Amino acid sequence: MTDPATNDDTPQRLFFALWPDDTTRDALNRTGKWLHQHWGGRRMRADTLHITLAFLGSTPADQLEVLFACADAIQTDAFELILDQAGYWRHNRIGWLGASQAPPQHFELASALNAALQAAGFPVDARPHVPHVTLLRNTAGGELPACEPVRWPVRDFVLVASRTEKDGAHYEVIRRWTLT
Ligand code: 2AM
Repeated sequence: MTDPATNDDTPQRLFFALWPDDTTRDALNRTGKWLHQHWGGRRMRADTLHITLAFLGSTPADQLEVLFACADAIQTDAFELILDQAGYWRHNRIGWLGASQAPPQHFELASALNAALQAAGFPVDARPHVPHVTLLRNTAGGELPACEPVRWPVRDFVLVASRTEKDGAHYEVIRRWTLT
């Protein structure tokens, strides 16, 4: 009998994201520790830190090739993101690090990807894209402290599968696309 947990047809919860290199991840994690000292809440584990570009949610396995084709069509140049601004969303109690001035390539990448996904029939988020790394959950927030900028050389983007376990979300990078 097929184990449902390993059945290849099982839908996966998927999203496209920027995934930091080790140096950037360490810097983001340090900022997470620092913001936690100001605002409290629950810190995200270092291995989960990312910027979501397009959230798909539960997706049937037979759609993977269509998703790959959407990402194959992206032609954005590599760029540098400077994450220099802490932010807080009251509605979901998230503390995050964002970019006061993300370069046009970042928005091009997010909008080209979401447009390709929408054209292929996937439901996409209609809200304007806010580039952010979630650092804290269930935080009360507070005054916005001035923070040390994190420089992120963005050379690729990834498709990620998310599983929720007792200790929180676990992410697996399924495929990576290099920016030119
Ligand atoms: P967040 O970091 O602001 O919470 C995986 O869940 C990633 O997809 C998270 O980074 C989450 O954003 C993002 N995401 C975007 N829309 C989502 C949704 N409707 N449900 C869950 N996660 C979503």
